[in-house]
Amino acid sequence: MVEYEKDAVVQPYVTEYIRSRLKKRDGIMAELEKTALQRDIPIVQPETAKLLETLIMAKQPQKILEVGCAIGYSAILMAEACENAEITTLEFDASLAAEAKENIEQAGLSERINVVFADARDYISYLEEDEIFDIIFLDGPKAHYIHMLDDCMRLLRKNGMLICDNVLYKGMTATDTLVIRRKITIVKRLRKFIDTITERADMETSILPVGDGVTLTVKRF
Ligand SMILES: C[S@@+](CC[C@H](N)C(=O)[O-])C[C@H]1O[C@@H](n2cnc3c(N)ncnc32)[C@H](O)[C@@H]1O
Repeated sequence: MVEYEKDAVVQPYVTEYIRSRLKKRDGIMAELEKTALQRDIPIVQPETAKLLETLIMAKQPQKILEVGCAIGYSAILMAEACENAEITTLEFDASLAAEAKENIEQAGLSERINVVFADARDYISYLEEDEIFDIIFLDGPKAHYIHMLDDCMRLLRKNGMLICDNVLYKGMTATDTLVIRRKITIVKRLRKFIDTITERADMETSILPVGDGVTLTVKRF
């Protein structure tokens, strides 16, 4: 079977160097990294986690919305990076959502992190504008980033930031030569998503070749 070009976004020696400069995590974060590795649960890559952590530390958001909770790793990371932040994190896999709740409880963060078992597309479309977020982190349904964009912008405050992971998708978004046939639809939608967030006047976007590719989009008005 044709497989992904694993290191298409960043050269392996660069990744290795960057990771060698990251502080090792301990406690529950180290446990969750081990669990994710053992059970093949996709959590943010170490260098993406560090980017997220430094952005949250710098921006000190009050309210964060995360799409794609898995076992709660990035939600805990963001909560620990900003002691005033309240986080709503969405997960449509019931057993992962339950596990995330337990992990968040264990981390002593249940007061600030609300795990919602829901399909994010439906959930965010029902949220009212009185529920406004400083940061929205999209990390999961890549094929639906484009479908969630208008709701994300509606729910983001002015100068708030939309952070999206996996946008370069093993390099496939950037070049046809890497595209795996069965992933064509996702790649087309990711390209449309990136075209939109880079062209629209109400957004300012930076595309970063970090991990599997990250976009940072500021809502200008
Ligand atoms: C990459 S993982 C999230 C990892 C997590 N952010 C972390 O770094 O710890 C993506 C998650 O999104 C969830 N997901 C995918 N589509 C979703 C949807 N439409 N609504 C809610 N969750 C979804 C998947 O079940 C999966 O657990």
